Amino acid sequence: MYCLAIETSCDDTCVAIVKNEYSILSNVMSSQIDIHRRFGGIVPEVASRRHLECLIPTLNQACQKANLTLKAIDLIAVTRGPGLTGSLLMGLCLGKTLAIIHQKPFIAVNHLEGHLFASRLDHPDITPPFISLIVSGGHTELNLVKNWGEYVHLGRTRDDAAGEVYDKIAKYLNIGYPGGPLIDNRTKDANPVRFHFRGGLEDQENFDFSFSGLKTAVIRSYNQLPENSKKDEKLINDLLASFQQSVVRTLWKKTFRAIQKTGIRTVSLGGGVAANSYLRSYFLQKGARYKVKIFLPSPTLCTDNAAMIGSCGSFYFSKGKISPLDLEPNPRLNLGES
Ligand code: KG4
Ligand code: ZN
Repeated sequence: MYCLAIETSCDDTCVAIVKNEYSILSNVMSSQIDIHRRFGGIVPEVASRRHLECLIPTLNQACQKANLTLKAIDLIAVTRGPGLTGSLLMGLCLGKTLAIIHQKPFIAVNHLEGHLFASRLDHPDITPPFISLIVSGGHTELNLVKNWGEYVHLGRTRDDAAGEVYDKIAKYLNIGYPGGPLIDNRTKDANPVRFHFRGGLEDQENFDFSFSGLKTAVIRSYNQLPENSKKDEKLINDLLASFQQSVVRTLWKKTFRAIQKTGIRTVSLGGGVAANSYLRSYFLQKGARYKVKIFLPSPTLCTDNAAMIGSCGSFYFSKGKISPLDLEPNPRLNLGES
């Protein structure tokens, strides 16, 4: 069963072909980073116009890499939300058009659920129940996965998502865009305890997060540095590492709280920030120490990609689900809604 998957929820134009839910035949991503860099963030109108230009070449590349024509495809899966409406519309339009022309079933996929299914692509042995932490540029949330498709919401960020804070701090400090991977690289040998920051709600008895106050604290610490110190690369890297440590520590604390409350000792991570090397080693170390199984998708499956959408869409199709062709994008879908 060949599934053609399209993901355009944000600024990456992604097309993949997935065979039988688990096997990635192609997973092509056309990045818009160079276009949005000069603005220091994503400009929604620019993103949707660029999707329009990139979708067909990306589709052709995905078919070529998989060595398949559209005729061979059995299912078309497309991200419906959450995301930017204009961007979602581009992928949905292409998916629906292909479904009509080639008379193939069409299935809409929740982007967050796609991030959850990324773990399944790399680790087919992962079985519910488990705790899911999705941490990206738009979301930071904890869910209990009782079964594939059956989710209990535990908590989410009350303000900024973790990835958004990485990007905003990098923008303020003139480090570049997107901040996540740049801060990851700059902090590899830095001192994460030189500065002391706290994640909002870090020690509160709930599963919610808050990162906006942390962002302000990091920026305030930077502003308080003497002007010549702001050019001290080692000092700035230590500041960034200390920020990163407080984000990752907070993410772990809330995840561990969910483990203790539910008694479930399996955790799956997903979303762009789960590609972070410090976060990955922190969670693996804590997992080994507290006997918690940690499932991490490979970094390219953590960040936005269409293979995860294909895997999720194929799963629902195998359960007899398809979507109507008049379905509209939904920028604010929650996990569990499709
Ligand atoms: O999942 P994703 O590709 O898109 C959303 O659904 O938001 O996540 C993008 C976010 C951005 O904020 C980016 O800076 C962050 O993930 N990110 C990282 C890393 N790679 C991407 N953050 C920290 N470390 C990384 N290596
Ligand atoms: Zn995403």
